[in-house]
This record gives sequence, structure tokens and C-alpha cells, in this order.
Amino acid sequence: MTSSRKPIVVVGSINMDLVARTPKTPVPGQTVIGTEFTTTPGGKGANQAVAVARLGYPVQMVGMVGEDVFGQTLIDQLKAASVGVEGVAKVPGPSGIASILVAPGGQNSIVVIPGANHKVDPAYIEQKKALITAAGMVLLQLELPMETVVYTIEMCSKAHVPVMLDPAPAMQLDEKVWTQSAWFTPNQTETAFYLGTKLEPETAARELLMRGLKGVVLKRGSEGTYVAVAGGKAAWVRPFPVETVDTVGAGDCFNGAFAVQLMEGKDRWSAALFASAAAALSTTKRGAQASMPTREEVESLLAHNR
Ligand code: RIB
Repeated sequence: MTSSRKPIVVVGSINMDLVARTPKTPVPGQTVIGTEFTTTPGGKGANQAVAVARLGYPVQMVGMVGEDVFGQTLIDQLKAASVGVEGVAKVPGPSGIASILVAPGGQNSIVVIPGANHKVDPAYIEQKKALITAAGMVLLQLELPMETVVYTIEMCSKAHVPVMLDPAPAMQLDEKVWTQSAWFTPNQTETAFYLGTKLEPETAARELLMRGLKGVVLKRGSEGTYVAVAGGKAAWVRPFPVETVDTVGAGDCFNGAFAVQLMEGKDRWSAALFASAAAALSTTKRGAQASMPTREEVESLLAHNR
């Protein structure tokens, strides 16, 4: 590893995840007795940053936490994972939290209360411009205000820094997002939201590329990943069968690992295969940031599944 590598910068959310494991997801009006409760660091942005750091690649986080009981712990956890926190500010009010239910089989449902994440405004992004535009790649998600996401994308576009956008949670997007993002990485639910209907992955990827995107990665869980680029070949990348206990943060793990491999000069197929293995491993442990695998773990899974 050389220190001259341009860092990955994640501009995104930092949450405390309040996770309840439950034998079944309650329907409206129903109460169920759960089996376990944990408080563990998360947030799509922070998870992606930790995924990058665990793989040994330099990464900086840009975002905000609150001056509450969670704020300092969230920053300390990022530091402990070797994520740079020069771009993380503590602001009055609560930190972002996510209320998460994990059902048997590891599937999850999440409600996010943005807290400090929604104080990350364009003026703050402007303050952090030097950090952001020094990046080799910027990773974004949609847990910050949309105007902040758009502002960051435009800043990166002017500075020729590629952006990987994880369009989660799904919401209406500004036109500039389609034309100025290098990679767009929705899961199955998000793909259906953005297209307004469920389509086969091959058709869905084509339709998304027609909106001006350069590259699309459709994250399809146990089906695998479909990778397509404008004017290039498209193909499936296989999933890795593992014993899943918790899928929280698996999509974030994929994005972090995919970005690392692209930054290391790998082609999109090798990068997606590596990221698919990393994401699979992340589902074998509980927690979001806590489950991000090391490079050795990913390489070992790849070696055993040639
Ligand atoms: O992608 C998983 C993440 O979504 C959780 O860690 C939670 O904080 C929400 O942001």
C-alpha cells in the first residue's frame, strides 16, 4: 500500500442504529416480543467509510453528529476504524438514529430519523471543498438533504472527481444526479422506485443508463449483481452463498469495496466480484460497521470459491 493513493471521501450520514431482533416483523396494530436489542454505529455514509477503511484504503468522512449521548461515540468508532474525521462536525441537537428490525434470516426494515445529518448543508460542503475535491472518488447516499447531495455532485463534477451514488433511501432525484454520477447502485426496491415499475435487471439497467448515467450496478441480494455501463458490455456477477444472520449494511459494504477496487485500478467485473464477496461476508456477522470484512477475509472467500 502506498500513501500517495488519493483517498475515497464519503459525504453522508452517520447514525446510531437501535436494533431489535424479532421472530417476526409486526404488522400494524401488532406487538411482538423480540429476542435482543443492541445499540451499534451505522448510517449509510459511515458504514461505507468503515467498509473502505477495513479494506486498508485511505478514507475521509464528511458529515455531522449531534451533541447528544451518541455523537462522540459515533466519531470515536470512525476513528477506531481508521476513518479520517476532519470533515465530521458536532452540532447542537440529536445525532441521526435508525430504528431497525431484524427478522429471522437477517432481513431488515429501517426507519431513519436524520437529526444532525439534515444539518449538513451546501455551505458546510463548501467549507470542506478542499477535502472533497482531493478525493479519488466520492461516495454519496441519500440520507443528507437532497440540495446537499446535488451541491456535492456538482462540486465533484467541476473538479472531475467521480461520484458513486447509492440512491438510498429511494426518493425523487434532481436531473443533475442522473447526468453527473459515474456509478448508480440501487437495490431491487430502489430500482423499481426509480423506474416506476418492476423490470427485469437487463431492461432496468438499460432504462437507467438512458437517463444519462455512466454506470449502473443493480444490487440484487442472493441473485447477484448486474453491472452495466453506457456504451459497454453488461453482465451478471455471481453472489456468494453464506450463512446470513444480518443484512444491515450489506449494500454499504458492497459500495465501499467496489470503490476501493476501482481506485486500485481493477476492472468493473473484478471490482464487483470482490464487492459481492465482501457484502456476503458482512451478512454473516451482526451490526453494520461491526460486520465490515477485512481484505484478508474477502480474499479468502474468493480463493475458496474460484
Ligand atoms: O444501510 C444500512 C444503514 O441504513 C443502517 O446502518 C442505518 O443507520 C441506515 O442508515
